[in-house]
Amino acid sequence: MQVIRKISELRARLSSESRVCCVPTMGNIHDGHLSLVRIGKERAPTVVTTIFVNRLQFGQGEDFEQYPRTFEDDCEKLEALGNDIVFCPNEEEMYPEPQVFFIDPPKVAKRLEGRFRPGHFRGVCTVVSKLFNAVQPQLAVFGKKDYQQLAIIRELTEQLCLPIEIVSAETVRAEDGLALSSRNRFLSDEERKEAPRMRDTMNGIRSAILDGDRKYVAMEYAAGARLARYGWNVDYVVIRAQKGLRRPTEDETKLVVLGAATLGSTRLIDNLEINVD
Ligand code: PAJ
Repeated sequence: MQVIRKISELRARLSSESRVCCVPTMGNIHDGHLSLVRIGKERAPTVVTTIFVNRLQFGQGEDFEQYPRTFEDDCEKLEALGNDIVFCPNEEEMYPEPQVFFIDPPKVAKRLEGRFRPGHFRGVCTVVSKLFNAVQPQLAVFGKKDYQQLAIIRELTEQLCLPIEIVSAETVRAEDGLALSSRNRFLSDEERKEAPRMRDTMNGIRSAILDGDRKYVAMEYAAGARLARYGWNVDYVVIRAQKGLRRPTEDETKLVVLGAATLGSTRLIDNLEINVD
């Protein structure tokens, strides 16, 4: 496995490759990331995993400084899986000057995560565009764990006519249902035991919907209140249409529950698709 830090070197290395898959990450590689690499390996002979903790997508007071950086470990895991190239530019390489051109995402980026993390998706879209320009992949894999991010990146590639196929990957979970996340390591033992409740609550909503309940707003409210009772600081638990993440109509068949809430000082997000048919 090659480790490349410079865009020019990456371009030279990839110039003769016909099909490249890009897996953008911020490192602290876990089985969720590895599942993306595995999908990449099935679909392209060359997989480039990028590791870059992107300052632009962190708001003030967010955990940019604390974000776990575990480069050696990451490389070991990626190499064991047959990942071909790790592209890990430093800040100087990605932002040699302060970034003044941005990709300004559409309205959907102002809702949900965007509402609680203003500017977050602008930072994500800008860095993903830059990473795409550096790697110039034919396809890229993103996890459903970050459901809104995936939807926005899909729209970005479509609207900007980028010749990149966006492939989605299911969320990888711990045995008790907690979605794997680099931030889980910040949970205390007690919080870690509590953490699967978000997923359980979403499963409860799924059962209710599959049983015919369509009182979405009441279900959202009850779910938020339940988490709050167990000590969560809830940003949102909402039921949306998978497409466009808008409020669902009564006869909507493709739904998704999306949630974000903080346990102690750790903010967790999760989601669950519900297909009614
Ligand atoms: P990061 O949080 O490192 O996630 C990188 C990719 O891994 C994303 O596509 C994310 O959805 C996916 N992922 C994370 N946890 C997962 C899990 N449990 N199961 C499946 N996939 C999972 O998302 C980012 O980084 C950044 O915003 C980035 C796109 C790299 C731009 O900086």
